[in-house]
Amino acid sequence: MDKDNNNILNIETVDLDLKTDELVIIDQTLLPNKTEIIRLSKAEDIWEAINLLKVRGAPAIGVAAAIGIYVLSVRIEVDKNASDEYEVFYKEFARLRDYLDSARPTAVNLHWALNRMDKLVKSMEGEPVAKVLDAMRQEALDIKAEDIWVCKQIGENGLTLIKPGYGILTHCNAGKLAVCKYGTATAPIYLGHERGYNLKVFADETRPLLQGARLTAYELMSAGIDVTLICDNMSGLVMRNGWVDAIFVGCDRVARNGDVANKIGTSMVATLAKRYNVPFYVCAPTSTIDMDTACGDDIKIEQRPAAEVTDMWYNEPMAPKGVGVYNPAFDITDNDLITAIVTEYGIARAPYTESLKAIMDLSRK
Ligand code: MRU
Repeated sequence: MDKDNNNILNIETVDLDLKTDELVIIDQTLLPNKTEIIRLSKAEDIWEAINLLKVRGAPAIGVAAAIGIYVLSVRIEVDKNASDEYEVFYKEFARLRDYLDSARPTAVNLHWALNRMDKLVKSMEGEPVAKVLDAMRQEALDIKAEDIWVCKQIGENGLTLIKPGYGILTHCNAGKLAVCKYGTATAPIYLGHERGYNLKVFADETRPLLQGARLTAYELMSAGIDVTLICDNMSGLVMRNGWVDAIFVGCDRVARNGDVANKIGTSMVATLAKRYNVPFYVCAPTSTIDMDTACGDDIKIEQRPAAEVTDMWYNEPMAPKGVGVYNPAFDITDNDLITAIVTEYGIARAPYTESLKAIMDLSRK
């Protein structure tokens, strides 16, 4: 990565301003045309930033929620001399935790990060709130630092599945903009690029919110990686042409049996990959693996506004007024379509109930 401060790769996706205790993010809805950094300290603004995808991508949402709940907790008013200082603080903390948790339903990282912050606060029951806040700040920063380590490890593990000169297809944005550094699906690509692998990437544009076009193509180009943008309905031809040696995607939640929720259209790509014999890899931090969810049918799929399909990005509506619209933000890729799930602790293969359990056991050591 170069030293250019304006390069998107050198701007923090999610950060905590330690002087002002504000959550600082890039407003991703404006990319790639405008790089606007926004600072948030109000509950409604943080909720809206997550809900409107100003900050998005499962790991980045988790980090934003961890920093966000700290930023909000600092502003909870408590009487430091009162004997019930902790109880008053915890009641408001819990309300804010649940509120942020309701911003988006599918990515488990949101719940995971808030749950981790909750566990910490509960473990300090009865302590002075100032001390609890110090620990919360450190925990939020740790979650961010771990995210960088996790993505690097996913990159190293994923790179073992790639040979120099490979054509790689990816869907949505599981890149640096979806995490703190490297990305998940893009981590092997970034590491391969650094090591002279000469990779050729195809980025699905990813309708309706165009994360592939606006974000993946943008960040890979900014890194000097050879990237070609295609519409979502072109991936079959690109595979049939023999241009794709492997597919790498991210995910929002992995169920216990290896079914995966990821951006709408992922299951279509996985189905085509099977048809054309292209390995289909899902990159998943263990924070995205939800052992409490048995299978894909149990994952709640976020439904989003119709206007994202009919109006967004167009100068005028591109569908008849009042037409019924179905706009799920994610789909489920069945585990039998997945060649392997790449985590920071190793690569899981079928049967996933066993391999994911082994990886989760390793992550808890
Ligand atoms: O709706 P988004 O943009 O948050 O969806 C993002 C994805 O589907 C990503 O593939 C997933 O969160 C993994 S990000 C490392």
